[in-house]
Amino acid sequence: MEHLQNDLLLRAARGEQVERVPVWMMRQAGRILAEYRAVRAKAGSFIKLATTPELAAEVTIQPVDILGVDAAIIFSDILVVPEAMGLPYIMEEKVGPIFPTTIQSMADVEQLLVPDPHEKLAYVIDAIKIVKQELNGRVPLIGFAGAPFTLLCYMIEGKGSKTFSKAKKALYSEEVLSHALLQKITDTTIAYLKAQIAAGANIVQIFDSWAGILSPEQYRTYSLPYIAQICDAITEVPVTVFAKGAFFAREDMGKLNCETIGLDWNMDIAESRRLIGNSKTLQGNLDPCVLYASYDEIKKHTITIIEQFGTQRYIANLGHGVYPDTDPDKVKCFIDTVKGYGL
Ligand code: CP3
Repeated sequence: MEHLQNDLLLRAARGEQVERVPVWMMRQAGRILAEYRAVRAKAGSFIKLATTPELAAEVTIQPVDILGVDAAIIFSDILVVPEAMGLPYIMEEKVGPIFPTTIQSMADVEQLLVPDPHEKLAYVIDAIKIVKQELNGRVPLIGFAGAPFTLLCYMIEGKGSKTFSKAKKALYSEEVLSHALLQKITDTTIAYLKAQIAAGANIVQIFDSWAGILSPEQYRTYSLPYIAQICDAITEVPVTVFAKGAFFAREDMGKLNCETIGLDWNMDIAESRRLIGNSKTLQGNLDPCVLYASYDEIKKHTITIIEQFGTQRYIANLGHGVYPDTDPDKVKCFIDTVKGYGL
């Protein structure tokens, strides 16, 4: 068994007693850090950075050293899964990801691979192995994948969108295709997460970033059953489900076979606890925009959410990824306020 010097995050996820609240931040490995931007410039592109294990490992560890977070999250992207299935993407500066080829027909779905992650995603698995060596037990490593529905959005739409109306059109008019695609993504994701865990990921998070565009009924039909399959399949480590905007699904998420539920800032904390029940750890949910405020305001808002969540069965985080133009000193203020709470 691996010995971790700081296992607060894992104990909180499993519902065990903690001396203080653990804290990390979605998108902590990224553009807020000058040190990240330097490695990114050296790599030449986001995709080159993400596919070069030594560099991906370096930027994964930066926030542990610089910000003092209680976990590292492997530097990668949810879009590496569609790429491994046969749909490559490009990362357009200031635009975001673009898929030159998209899924439009059942024949397109049938052409997709359910790849062996050790082959097609070896660069992520290798990065995890390097991170584990370099962390040397300091903090746990979080692995992750996109939820099948969120990946379907990009694979059909071909790019980011406010409405993802092309993807939603498929749900309403191409039911068989949609389910076939979701199942293929699910099978790929389970194998991929298991490979991350075998390489050393101590906990995994499923990002359902576009959950909030679905109706409750569509969410129950097209997203939750596939997330449930993943949760049921991953028995090795705790699983966190973060479904941004899915306030309507909180009660259902309380029944998933996962340990932790991530909340965004639109979700009332006490109401979420009531809907989800006491058997899950909650993670979140400071509005990332609070980090634009003064140090005093950041401290005040951070303490307010800790008091609402309580110090047990809770992992402090933002309600979504940190915005790239946030001052790292303000981020540190948030992290230090959590770490100092109640001590
Ligand atoms: O959290 C972390 O620190 C780990 C790294 C991570 C990245 N993407 C790196 C990244 C994680 C966990 C993700 C997940 C991801 N990627 C999600 C789900 C979480 C969320 O934010 O809702 C989504 C929807 C994506 C898809 C994606 N990747 C988009 C829409 C974009 C462009 C928008 C942007 O922020 O630029 C990316 C690019 C991306 N992924 C960057 C980083 C650091 C920025 C690119 C760069 O550095 O040039």
